[in-house]
Amino acid sequence: MKLEDIKTIGVVGAGTMGQGIAQICAQAGYKTILFDINAQVLEKAETTTKNNLDKGIERGKLTEQEKQTALANLTFTGNTLQLSCDVIIEAIVERLEVKQSIFKELADINTPDTILASNTSSIPITQIAAAVPNPERVVGMHFFNPAHIMKLVEVISGAATAPEIAETIKQLAEKLGKTAVMAKDSPGFIVNRVARHFYVEGLKLLEEGVADIETIDKLMQASGFKMGPFELMDLIGVDTNYSVTTSMFEAFHYDPKFRPSRIQQQKVDAGHHGRKSGKGFYKYD
Ligand code: NAI
Repeated sequence: MKLEDIKTIGVVGAGTMGQGIAQICAQAGYKTILFDINAQVLEKAETTTKNNLDKGIERGKLTEQEKQTALANLTFTGNTLQLSCDVIIEAIVERLEVKQSIFKELADINTPDTILASNTSSIPITQIAAAVPNPERVVGMHFFNPAHIMKLVEVISGAATAPEIAETIKQLAEKLGKTAVMAKDSPGFIVNRVARHFYVEGLKLLEEGVADIETIDKLMQASGFKMGPFELMDLIGVDTNYSVTTSMFEAFHYDPKFRPSRIQQQKVDAGHHGRKSGKGFYKYD
């Protein structure tokens, strides 16, 4: 599949990442189908999309006509059968077995030409691809949060990914206004491998009683980071961030430097998932 053959894009999962990914695909002129199993999440995604587009107009980055065209390009659905597309970008929970199961389903619905991309932060693409009959069309397309603003996309080739598929996805990312970087398949790829220690060490400082959440965040900001680790985990989703650490800890053969934090696990268990749930390390209105 070449860039010019792509007309329809399916996005699976309408949460923190899927909503933003679908929005930019629709803005770039693609017929975009956003799917989630949770009707409430779909409703919220529709409201967030409208709000984001309105903000774009306020800031002079978008016209009313462009907003209407983007919205006309977008379909929100809870029916997987509508996901017959040229490219599908998966953005559901960070768990291998759940991703493999949806990839199998997507492979059944679509032709072998459909490119199946995953927005996974850490799970090896080779493992996800092992679940489908044509693994050469499976590729990583890793956006950053918030997806409609952050410029970087990591394009990850698994062991079976065809080079021309990775190239098409790189061109697609560029068409969406992003800067695409090719990466090899390795747990956490490039950015999350380096950034993991930002969270893990922040949590260790907290566990050891060296400093409190606010102090750590303020100091990291003062040293030049846009956000401290706790603020950032709340933005990412404390649950998603925890799943990424857990997946990398397992993938690196339980190397203690990636060990997930008990404090973070408790937050996840308590449903304190960050901004999206109204409470995480901080409280939100
Ligand atoms: P989220 O928890 O905000 O959203 C996940 C959505 O997937 C939920 O709405 C849920 O209802 C839906 N879902 C679960 N199982 C499903 C299924 N079988 N079919 C359809 N929908 C299903 O998660 P988030 O944060 O958007 O993460 C999604 C993926 O993106 C993960 O792989 C994560 O590692 C990755 N990612 C997350 C980033 C972040 O900052 N949150 C940044 C970059 C990548």
